[in-house]
Amino acid sequence: MATDVITLITSDHRTVESLFQRLKKQEGDPSATVAELHALLIAHARAEEDRVYPGIDAHHSVEEHKEAEILLDALVRAQPGTPEFRKTLDKLIKSVTRHVEEEESRILPALAKSVGEKGLVELGKAFKERRAEELKALGVPKQAAPVGSREGVTKAELYEKAKKADIPGRSHMGKKELADALRHAK
Ligand SMILES: [Fe+2]
Ligand SMILES: [Fe+2]
Repeated sequence: MATDVITLITSDHRTVESLFQRLKKQEGDPSATVAELHALLIAHARAEEDRVYPGIDAHHSVEEHKEAEILLDALVRAQPGTPEFRKTLDKLIKSVTRHVEEEESRILPALAKSVGEKGLVELGKAFKERRAEELKALGVPKQAAPVGSREGVTKAELYEKAKKADIPGRSHMGKKELADALRHAK
C-alpha cells in the first residue's frame, strides 16, 4: 500500500533523531553515523523542497535546510571527539530539532488540509522517488536508507554488531553487506 507523505517525512525525522542520539552518546563509529546522517538529511531536504514544499509557503523552511546543510558539511569535516565536532553537532541538533518541530506542528498539518488524503498519498510517491534519486546520486544504495527505516537498524548499528562479531572487511561494507555478513556469521 502506498504511504502518505506525512508518514514518510515523520519517519525520516525519527531516524535522524536516533542518529543524533548515537552521536551524542558516542555509540558506534561516529564517522559512519555522520555519513549516514549526511546522506539522509540531504536526500530528505531535497525531496521536500522539490516535491512537497512547492505549493505551500515554505520559503523559511528552505532557509533552514540551507543552515542545516552548512552545519552538516562542517560536521563531516570535523574530527570526531574534538570540541569542534561536539560544538558543531550541538548546533546542528538545535537547528534541525527546531525545524522538525515546525514542520510537524505547522507545515505538515497545513499541507494535509490543502491537498487531502489522496493528495498526501500522491505526494508520498513523489517524495519517495525524489529521495531515492538523491540517495543514488550521493552514492548510497537504495537499501542503505529505506524510507521508514525507523523499525530497521541503521548502518552504524550494524557496523557495531559486525565489530563485536569481528567480521573481516566490515569497514568497507555497505548496510546490506553488513546485514548479510551478520546473518551468515550467526
Ligand atoms: Fe523534514
Ligand atoms: Fe524540512
